[in-house]
Amino acid sequence: MICRTYLTIFSAITLTILAAGCSKGKYSSDGEAIFIAGETQDGAVVENSLEPPDFPDGIDHLGCAACHGSDARGLQQPIPAMGPFFAPDIRWSTLTTQEPPYTEELFAFAIRQGVAPDGSHFHFPMPQWDVSDEQVAEIIKVLRSK
Ligand code: HEC
Repeated sequence: MICRTYLTIFSAITLTILAAGCSKGKYSSDGEAIFIAGETQDGAVVENSLEPPDFPDGIDHLGCAACHGSDARGLQQPIPAMGPFFAPDIRWSTLTTQEPPYTEELFAFAIRQGVAPDGSHFHFPMPQWDVSDEQVAEIIKVLRSK
């Protein structure tokens, strides 16, 4: 009985420590948080051009990984509620070796304005993102690591 009480207290403390750890250090940068969840490290939703009617029920924001895959290698029709679409491979090694190649500047322009290096406009549902220079640099760092 005493043992069980100690165990309960021990679990409560462990859970509190784990919860504190999760809310603080869940992501190592805004770039990682945006890539995975479409949020900043502090949990603020990053503004983008997708509006609630575009989302599947019960979801109001998405990270890059939801469409492009957590390995960034691209996904075929990942979100049925958005209709059929293909989100391409966005690993940095792929983006910088295709024609015309992405540079850091062209990548920033592409994800902010929805325009590819060849001048074409991205189709739905690729959003336009309101991201700072620092956040763009951090997203590139994530894509380089894939
Ligand atoms: C809701 C789904 C969705 C989300 C979320 C999303 N993308 Fe996309 N993305 C797409 C689709 C679909 C395309 C292809 C658009 C086209 O072909 O016109 C695309 C295209 C791209 C391209 C162009 C690749 C190329 O070969 O030219 C880049 C770069 C890109 N996305 C980066 C990102 C980044 C970075 C994020 C997160 C900050 C992100 N995307 C979030 C769906 C998404």
